[in-house]
Amino acid sequence: MKHLLKLLDLTGEEIVDLLDLADRLKAENKQGVAHPILQGKCLGMIFEKSSTRTRVSFEVGIHQLGGYAVVLSSDGSQIGRGEPVQDTARVLSRYVDGIMIRTFAQEEVEALAQYGSVPVINGLTDFCHPCQVLADLQTIRAYKGGLEGRKLCFIGDGNNMMNSLIVGGLKTGMRVSVACPAGYRPPREILEFAVGYPERFEITDSPRQAVQGADAVYTDVWTSMGQEDERKAREAAFAGYCVDEELMALAAPDAMVLHCLPAHRGEEISEGVFEAHAGEIFEEAENRLHAQKAVLVRVMGA
Ligand code: CP
Ligand code: NVA
Repeated sequence: MKHLLKLLDLTGEEIVDLLDLADRLKAENKQGVAHPILQGKCLGMIFEKSSTRTRVSFEVGIHQLGGYAVVLSSDGSQIGRGEPVQDTARVLSRYVDGIMIRTFAQEEVEALAQYGSVPVINGLTDFCHPCQVLADLQTIRAYKGGLEGRKLCFIGDGNNMMNSLIVGGLKTGMRVSVACPAGYRPPREILEFAVGYPERFEITDSPRQAVQGADAVYTDVWTSMGQEDERKAREAAFAGYCVDEELMALAAPDAMVLHCLPAHRGEEISEGVFEAHAGEIFEEAENRLHAQKAVLVRVMGA
């Protein structure tokens, strides 16, 4: 694995290999076993959007693997003044051993990989959030004892999270059911991928239909970073899409709930559902650390 740009680029086997490695690193971490596999290696991190989990888990993760991180934000670097990504890629490749980037356009991440000479990891774009979904799948697998045949349901916007969950879920043998209002469906590239799994994929505008018998119910904010001007219209479009107690009553009796965080209680998820499932939601957040260490080892390891 040279880069992690999007889950569409990975096979199901490669995803499962990352989950297995993440589980191993997690167990060793709990036992206090250190593996300085990336001794002395530097991860450059570029943030053109805000972050809590991605920033801290990558920085702690590379440190635990024996390396260190250098963090760049768009406003504190020449990126914010318009230096082209092609040039940033070629410059950073001469200083660092790998680059993680959080930005808007997926094309920017692809260009970074094309023009640079070091591994590139996508830490979220408008199109996808592969690192988050690796942690999500790791969490579901642990709680449900496997992924194959389990039903994953996503209620909400056809955004970066829905896109990556459709791809990651289907590639690992899950049944995936998504509910989103007309006008907020995933992009063509994702729907074209999902068409290849007619027995395991469903898309509807009815949250009640999508959630039927689900083993894992997932939601995310209605207004993603960069869409703040659309907030009012989105609140209206997503009325009826709150994951609340009434909706959860239609899922499997032992269904788990996931949220990539940050969450807006009272919008996409009720306070009661969030707190009733806080155990798995914060386990999921913790797993960002372990899943990302697995990615770092696979792309930056010798
Ligand atoms: N879920 C996630 O990516 O969180 P941050 O935006 O805090 O990194
Ligand atoms: N869809 C959200 C995910 C945040 C982790 C966003 O892009 O803002």
